[in-house]
Amino acid sequence: MAESEIKKEEKQQKEKSPDLMEKIVSLAKRRGFVFPGSEIYGGLSSSWDFGPLGVELKNNIKSLWWDKFVHRRSDIVGIDASLIMNPKVWEASGHLKEFNDPLIECKKCHERFRADELIKSEDWIKEKKFLDTLSPGDKEQRIRQLFRKCPNCGAEGQFTRPREFTLMFKTFFGPAHSEKSTVYFRPETAQAMFVNFKNVLDTTRNTLPFGIAQMGKAFRNEITTGSFLFRTREFDQMEIEYFVREKDWEQYFDYWVNEVTSWIEEVGIDPKKVHGEEIPPEERAHYSKKTVDFNYDFPFGRKELYGLAYRTDFDLKNHEKMSGESLKYHDPESGEEIWPHVIEPSFGVERTFLAVLLDAYHEEKDRIVLRLKPKVAPYKAAVFPLLANKPELVKLAKTIYGNLQKKFYVAWDDRGNIGKRYYAQDEAGTPYCITVDFDSLEKNDVTIRDRDTMKQERVPIGKLSEYISEKL
Ligand code: GAP
Repeated sequence: MAESEIKKEEKQQKEKSPDLMEKIVSLAKRRGFVFPGSEIYGGLSSSWDFGPLGVELKNNIKSLWWDKFVHRRSDIVGIDASLIMNPKVWEASGHLKEFNDPLIECKKCHERFRADELIKSEDWIKEKKFLDTLSPGDKEQRIRQLFRKCPNCGAEGQFTRPREFTLMFKTFFGPAHSEKSTVYFRPETAQAMFVNFKNVLDTTRNTLPFGIAQMGKAFRNEITTGSFLFRTREFDQMEIEYFVREKDWEQYFDYWVNEVTSWIEEVGIDPKKVHGEEIPPEERAHYSKKTVDFNYDFPFGRKELYGLAYRTDFDLKNHEKMSGESLKYHDPESGEEIWPHVIEPSFGVERTFLAVLLDAYHEEKDRIVLRLKPKVAPYKAAVFPLLANKPELVKLAKTIYGNLQKKFYVAWDDRGNIGKRYYAQDEAGTPYCITVDFDSLEKNDVTIRDRDTMKQERVPIGKLSEYISEKL
């Protein structure tokens, strides 16, 4: 999307929901969820660092996903591949070609545009094919003819020379910087699953339908970034390539719509705010024959949270062609050698993190509370001695804390009054606060306060671990 359009949309949304994003960004910083990247040097545009609580929330989201889609199933296995792959991978996948567009800037208003955003997508696909046949000089001239009037300020013929713009992050593999040593950081985790298809087949007993899952970093030199974690240049993806027989693709596409929907509820995103939208053919990625985007009602607009694509046999076929290695599957059902077709659910970790935070955030009369699902909450409980200057209370509270730590990530707090400690844990999303008081010394029980209801109950110390486990 063009920078001007994004800014306009953000402005409109800000008017609708004046400061929810600001409040989330502020809480994220205040409580150690997310810090601006390289902050002491003035930051780095749209780069964010996950702090002590953020890394826990992020890891819990990832573990929940891995648990649901890999460990609890017998038809999906995981891999963890290199971020940098042989550049031929990106030739075969089409990224080197498709992730390349001329970028032009209006000299008057300094807005930058990607060519495919200025003319209708289907025309651009045809135009791009034509441009690829031209010499660099002719290409530039043609681009200047195509783009005359700036859609932002209306200036005529004020565009700069088009610059080839690539979404791929380029670097050099090894100390010599040359054309030959040029490599790219992966723009999606997906390709490693195709490249390792044969290795996975040879080392597992999987038969169709089966999937390969991966989570990890992806890099894209987005022209415009912003809206906090929503669009960054470095982000984490969680993806599954689900291999099926061609005849079954529609059935499994529908199946994955349901699986994505069930994940959304499990992780703590409000399903009422998520809307499936089928993408028209001219807007689909080059590899896809059907795409459904799951769009979430962010405070800055309804935007893509996740994607689900039918990638056909595009990737396996192209990698086979490029590598010369057979990537066919011997189908025991038909006895044939086939390229399986692929259904790909793709989940962004940061967008999940942001939607989870937005839906968990609640302002109440005397507190701000993050109603995170206990499974993803950074701390599962916090332990307090009622008074920090009573050694017998501190000693018992420390013992409880130490025992719980063997099973859960638990917070300790003995500063200030109990009200302040509750306030801090509510903002951190900690589901249970455990207070050790004078009765605890005699009765061997403690008070547990529930984050959401604020109700308190007495629980025997020996039952604490079971009590927390049951709620997770
Ligand atoms: N393998 C398919 C693929 O990568 P995509 O729609 O380009 O498809 C998938 O990306 C998901 O990755 C998106 O739905 C989103 O959650 C996340 N994502 C993509 N670009 C992102 C960015 N610049 N910043 C944060 N998350 C991003």
